[in-house]
Amino acid sequence: METPTGIPRNLKGSLPSLHLIIAASSLTSSWFTPTPIRYISSVIERGDTGGGLINIRSVSRHFCFNLMRNMIFGRRLFGEGSEHGGPGEEETEHADAIFNILKYVYAFCITDYHPWLRGKTDFDGHEKHVRSALKIARKYQDPLIDERCQMWKNGDIKEKLDLLDVLITHENPKITIAEIKAQIIEIKIAAVDNPSNAVEWTMGEMMNDPTLLKRAVEELDHVVGSNRLVQERDLPQLNYIKACIKESFRLHPYEALNVPHVSTMNTIVGGYFIPKGSHVLLSRIGLGRNPDVWEDPLRFNPDRHLEGEDKQVVLTDDELKILSFSTGKRGCPAGVLGSSMTTMMLARMLQGYTWEVPCNDQPIKLVEKHDGLSLAKPLVLIAKPRLPQHVYPIN
Ligand code: HEM
Repeated sequence: METPTGIPRNLKGSLPSLHLIIAASSLTSSWFTPTPIRYISSVIERGDTGGGLINIRSVSRHFCFNLMRNMIFGRRLFGEGSEHGGPGEEETEHADAIFNILKYVYAFCITDYHPWLRGKTDFDGHEKHVRSALKIARKYQDPLIDERCQMWKNGDIKEKLDLLDVLITHENPKITIAEIKAQIIEIKIAAVDNPSNAVEWTMGEMMNDPTLLKRAVEELDHVVGSNRLVQERDLPQLNYIKACIKESFRLHPYEALNVPHVSTMNTIVGGYFIPKGSHVLLSRIGLGRNPDVWEDPLRFNPDRHLEGEDKQVVLTDDELKILSFSTGKRGCPAGVLGSSMTTMMLARMLQGYTWEVPCNDQPIKLVEKHDGLSLAKPLVLIAKPRLPQHVYPIN
């Protein structure tokens, strides 16, 4: 089976360095620029979208993309960005292309089951759509990668400053430019959907049940106070906020199934025989909404993750009672980074602003879209600053 970027899954497996690289890259916190805060403040200041009307889906997706660009390329944007510090045309086109590719990761495709048809047919037009989205995504990243490779070749760079430098200079195995380009697309596809979807659903749930919002804000006031923004060092103490996010991972995963896998040998799991070559699809909602494991499974109840007062909430779950980052060899290599970016994003949004539902949208309809599990309509809320002015970054 191939990934949409064209890397056979077995080749992905032969690049174990990816796990080490992402783990190593997660060690610095310099990527956590106060992006969502800067952008939201600027929208409120301008009042040009109805006085602080914020599209949570758009803000959270762009926060993740900005962070990834910072981590991979050492820059927040591809182009100049918009006037108020948000995404410009380039970033928006790139983000749409990545989400288009993502749509087809989960789509049923006949050539996954009959690979000999690959290149001969395109029954549902999937290949055409993915190729065109890939072209757009590569238009922005490939020139940056080529340029950086050339700089290393010329000896213009001596120090590794971001993930791209790490990939270019990696030995054993040496990674080719084509593989680097594909890996970077792969990372971007993997890094944005889950954190942004979890933040959007959590904010939606909080809007319809203000007691959740109140407890989260009280935690922030207690742990961080109001004279500085949340920092990475605060995250271990934000247990209630993490419990809210974990509850969104459980009840509202971005997709119903995990990415498809193929078993490479005969095996037995939970008493079931899985023959070699089976296509294995783990159900995220089957786990997260399982009434045998979770009491009242359809209720959004973060308290179920707060076991014992001293226990830290972690968003990973190796026992697979929920499928947040999955586990094992094919599990997400960025559990730490993914947890930090999701918690940081939600914490800064809740700490920096009070949030209200626009009058004509009350109460929010927390319904899933017909062909996926994200909210049917992007969540749009009114934000008002709640901290002293000096705490907000200057635009
Ligand atoms: C809330 C944040 C995140 C969640 C919940 C999450 C979850 C997952 C899950 C469920 C998988 C599939 C595992 C499998 O195939 O069984 C996965 C794979 C992956 N994730 Fe994440 N992820 C997150 C953030 C990130 C970030 C920030 C990055 C990159 C910096 C990343 C990179 C990857 C990669 C490269 C894979 C593919 C691994 C492989 O197949 O070898 N993820 N992630």
